[in-house]
Amino acid sequence: MASPALFRRATVVKIVQETADARTFVLDPHDGPFSYQAGQFCVFRVRVDGRDLLRSYSMSSAPESDAELTTTVKRVPDGKVSNWLIDRVEEGDELELTLPRGRFCLRPATTPLLGFSGGSGITPILSLAKSTLAGTDRGVRLLCADRDRDAAIFRSALEDLAARYPGRLTVVRHLDADRGFLDAASVREFVGPDGAADAYVCGPEPFMALVESALPGPGRIFSERFGGDAPAPLADGTAPAEDTGTVTIQLGTKRVSVRKHPNETLLQTARRAGLTPPSSCEAGNCATCMARLTEGSATMRVNDALTEEEVAEGYVLTCQGIPDEGSVTVHYE
Ligand SMILES: Cc1cc2nc3c(=O)[nH]c(=O)nc-3n(C[C@H](O)[C@H](O)[C@H](O)COP(=O)(O)OP(=O)(O)OC[C@H]3O[C@@H](n4cnc5c(N)ncnc54)[C@H](O)[C@@H]3O)c2cc1C
Ligand code: FES
Repeated sequence: MASPALFRRATVVKIVQETADARTFVLDPHDGPFSYQAGQFCVFRVRVDGRDLLRSYSMSSAPESDAELTTTVKRVPDGKVSNWLIDRVEEGDELELTLPRGRFCLRPATTPLLGFSGGSGITPILSLAKSTLAGTDRGVRLLCADRDRDAAIFRSALEDLAARYPGRLTVVRHLDADRGFLDAASVREFVGPDGAADAYVCGPEPFMALVESALPGPGRIFSERFGGDAPAPLADGTAPAEDTGTVTIQLGTKRVSVRKHPNETLLQTARRAGLTPPSSCEAGNCATCMARLTEGSATMRVNDALTEEEVAEGYVLTCQGIPDEGSVTVHYE
């Protein structure tokens, strides 16, 4: 059963076809408007082929400029949830989602905001751009990489923003179809004299790695990773050793107890026990792997996704949570 504190319901009041592969969902939360910051995401729970699946989707809206809460989803080839949302959800349907979370948010600065997006990575970058334009007097410069012109999401939304904030927003487009993949020289050329500006980066992993390594500095780099790469290794290389206590994992109808291994995350332990709990980024960023501790405690190496209240209620990111002393029981809801 869903914990009412964790998953809320929202009605999809409108769907916008952004490109052939991307749709924006306008959401009306049943408990009233969500309070959120630009750049944050919600974890959606959808039932696909009889299984509950969790996926994170960022807001494309910004509280400073939009009355409506919107998220934009791009189809991933053979992707279970993105295809289900795009093909099956209709206006009037209800979705389950958590409150907004995440730390890919605007940091105070006086320099222009540099945004780098690849494909669906434009979703939180658009949110941050809108927030910056509406809530500050900073300039915004975006480098948007897409497969081709037709794949570029929010083309007209960005043109409208540029017209609404004259001289404050510039968008440079990189289309793989014309010039191949983005390269480091193009990133540095784009940055130009703004090396001290904060850079916000979101896109496929190779795009992010390229941009992060090409940025000349000394500006700060903030990155949002959507996942989709090979899962992290099963164990972290630490040799198992004697440890007191057990880890009990409840996942659906399955309940398994195994001995603790030092420095093993709860997710790693669950996999060692033969279970396949939900996970995505495995970096403490997306909350897909969250579960509730009903016995014992655990320390998270990184938590960029759960709120303080959720942690106080016993929720833990299992990809980051290492059990403390004694036995622990963790329940994937
Ligand atoms: C914090 C956060 C915010 C996100 N915000 C958005 C958003 O605003 N819009 C959006 O469209 N997506 C967003 N995502 C990605 C989204 O959560 C899903 O990972 C994506 O929709 C694929 O899920 P799926 O169930 O369709 O594919 P799955 O069934 O999980 O995967 C199918 C195949 O595609 C690969 N794959 C999984 N994810 C990706 C990916 N992102 N790109 C390329 N290949 C992938 C997998 O390795 C697998 O081979 C976000 C992810 C995170 C962690
Ligand atoms: S899998 Fe993303 S926070 Fe654990």
